[in-house]
Amino acid sequence: MSNDMNNPSVHFEDVLKKAIDNPARRNILRGGLGLSALSFLGLAGCGGDTIVNAAANPANALNFTATPLNQSYDGVSVANGYKVELLYKLGDPINATTSAYLNNGSETPASFDFRSGDHHDGMYFFGMGSNSKWSESVSDKGILCINHEAITPLFLHANGPTPATGNRTVPDEVQKEFRLHGVSVVEVNKVNGAFQVNLASPFNRRITTLTPMDIAGPLRGHDLLKTKYSPTGVMTRGTVNNCASGYTPWGTYLTCEENYAGYFKRSNVTGRSPNELASEARNGLTSSSGRERWTSVSTADDDYNRWDITITGASAADDFRNAGNTYGFNVEIDPFASGSTPKKRTAMGRFAHEGAWVAPVTVGKPVVFYMGCDSEGEYIYKFVSANNWRASDINGGLAAGDRYLDAGKLYVAKFNENFTGQWLELTVSLSGTVSAPSSTTFTFGDASDPYLNTRLCADKVGATKMDRPEWGAVNPANGEVYFTLTNSRSKRPVADTNASNPRSYTDNASGTGSTAGNWNGHIIRWRENNSNPAALTFDWDIYVFGAESDDLNNANVNLSGLTAENYLSSPDGLWFSEKTGIMYIQTDDGQFTNETDGQGTTCMLLAAIPGQVGDGSSVAVVNTVGAATQTVTTRVGKVGQLKRLLTGPLDCEITGITETHDGKALFINIQHPGEGTGSSSYPGTSISNPVSSWPYSSTGNGNPATPTTAKSGRPRSATIVLTRIDGGVIGTDFTLS
Ligand code: FEO
Ligand code: CA
Ligand code: CA
Repeated sequence: MSNDMNNPSVHFEDVLKKAIDNPARRNILRGGLGLSALSFLGLAGCGGDTIVNAAANPANALNFTATPLNQSYDGVSVANGYKVELLYKLGDPINATTSAYLNNGSETPASFDFRSGDHHDGMYFFGMGSNSKWSESVSDKGILCINHEAITPLFLHANGPTPATGNRTVPDEVQKEFRLHGVSVVEVNKVNGAFQVNLASPFNRRITTLTPMDIAGPLRGHDLLKTKYSPTGVMTRGTVNNCASGYTPWGTYLTCEENYAGYFKRSNVTGRSPNELASEARNGLTSSSGRERWTSVSTADDDYNRWDITITGASAADDFRNAGNTYGFNVEIDPFASGSTPKKRTAMGRFAHEGAWVAPVTVGKPVVFYMGCDSEGEYIYKFVSANNWRASDINGGLAAGDRYLDAGKLYVAKFNENFTGQWLELTVSLSGTVSAPSSTTFTFGDASDPYLNTRLCADKVGATKMDRPEWGAVNPANGEVYFTLTNSRSKRPVADTNASNPRSYTDNASGTGSTAGNWNGHIIRWRENNSNPAALTFDWDIYVFGAESDDLNNANVNLSGLTAENYLSSPDGLWFSEKTGIMYIQTDDGQFTNETDGQGTTCMLLAAIPGQVGDGSSVAVVNTVGAATQTVTTRVGKVGQLKRLLTGPLDCEITGITETHDGKALFINIQHPGEGTGSSSYPGTSISNPVSSWPYSSTGNGNPATPTTAKSGRPRSATIVLTRIDGGVIGTDFTLS
């Protein structure tokens, strides 16, 4: 085969062509030799191949000492030489007329049309030029798009939520919750060296569960998307559980609907067809109450009733039986057109969308996005646009999105045991049946199948079930794709291990890790055949396996040889710096964080300088839990430099990451500090004595060896800004040329 494991090569004319055709830096595959260096060496236009090796430059070193694990400090700790500042917290106003947030549950629901939502998650920074359009050459002024994935109801209302016999009894509480989900679009400016939200910006807006959205692509107008809100099936209302995200090469934002299904209620299945029953079972549209019990406020008011998919009317135009079919998509937002209506891009499929990550684009070639479905045993997908990339579409807004995101091919990944892989196409010509949960069966044959029932199509073609695909990221130096597989705690028994999901074990010294599974997760990576993002085959290995400190000497768990400077568990967020090529890893962990032997830690951010697919070695993993045993051979990459840069406050998740184009500021989200307050996991805690009071407890730069005892105030999810104290580029003194 044409793939040489040790010498990924790109055709030099392609590299040069990209540089000429498209000024966007991300569109150029780069390596140790920059384009100008190649030109200087007289290689430009020679027509032959040249080696581009990302790992070759010895100057590319992480220039900080790892920050230690954190057990009890209720703040953000960063490595020496770094600092963090608060930027945008739950409830903060986005205009000058909205009052400061009091954080006691007293604000009106309507005020949240102009306040930050809760549970900050995926985000992207778009530098803004003097023409108020996207510009990658501007770093001190830009628009941040920030997802608000979910809520911690306890801290949002005066005394927490007030349900009675399982019903929500205070409409204002639910109206507030509708607005605490969705997306923030806010302009941020660097003023006197620090970023702040520009409250006067005309670009600032909130997108919530109440915002009208267009249905775009192949499902637009389909019978199965018709609702009382849109009897012709061309619109829906709102977006929810916006987890990770993506950006497009034309300068728009993709917000991705992950665990949307749980918000809907289904009282009974009367009138449902066998295919509808299978679809609802496979996608989780089966709750008898809905996650936040929103429908219980009123069955007469469609604000609430639209979350109930039970058939109650004569036709789809009379009820919300199909409302669940209008969620589970990637939603495109134009941050530079504040009046524009977001579009649900149905050609990219429907599942628990974690995010969408674009591959380097080439003029005249398709635009490719990688996507994960975050649940145990779910899949990794790829979308390849039907239309080829034109550089003239940069700043083309949603019209450019229509060109690239409404038609294309949808693929799902199969990881073979011999470290090759295939992209299996999901097409409308699938036929026959497939089994779904709850003893249901789905019959293929409708034009909506690949887009509405993407998971069932992937089941049918035999995709590889992965250990919860979370974020992806593409290495700007060589185009290799990385995906976090955060963990699998119930669906990876010893007998089901394979080369790409090779671990099943119990957790030492933890009260919660007694069953067999991949408790700490791993990061898989692949190189597309000939480094072509649209290729149908690839080679893969595993970059790193998560491991806890008490597994230092457990060779079948700590396969990557992690040490004190880089123990990690449940990798989730992933980001490659366009400036330095450093990869950042964030964790969303409930395992290492709950360690009972005193060796636990809060969630964290790590920095890595990875090598390339195939740089490590084959390893036989011996999985043994009780009487079950199975040996699996996998291929483990070289970890290289991997250091912890930041740890978070108590009971939070570190998620969402983006950077200014100059690489000097990283935006990072602290999600749901103190989320477990009042639960049985944290006895004695309450709304007035929360597990965490961040950011009131300590804003940053604290010492993780010093417990924080002073707590006052309800915790708030927030975006922070990480910078170097000396103003330099984050993580290294090296930049990609
Ligand atoms: Fe919302 Fe998959 O984390
Ligand atoms: Ca352990
Ligand atoms: Ca996530």
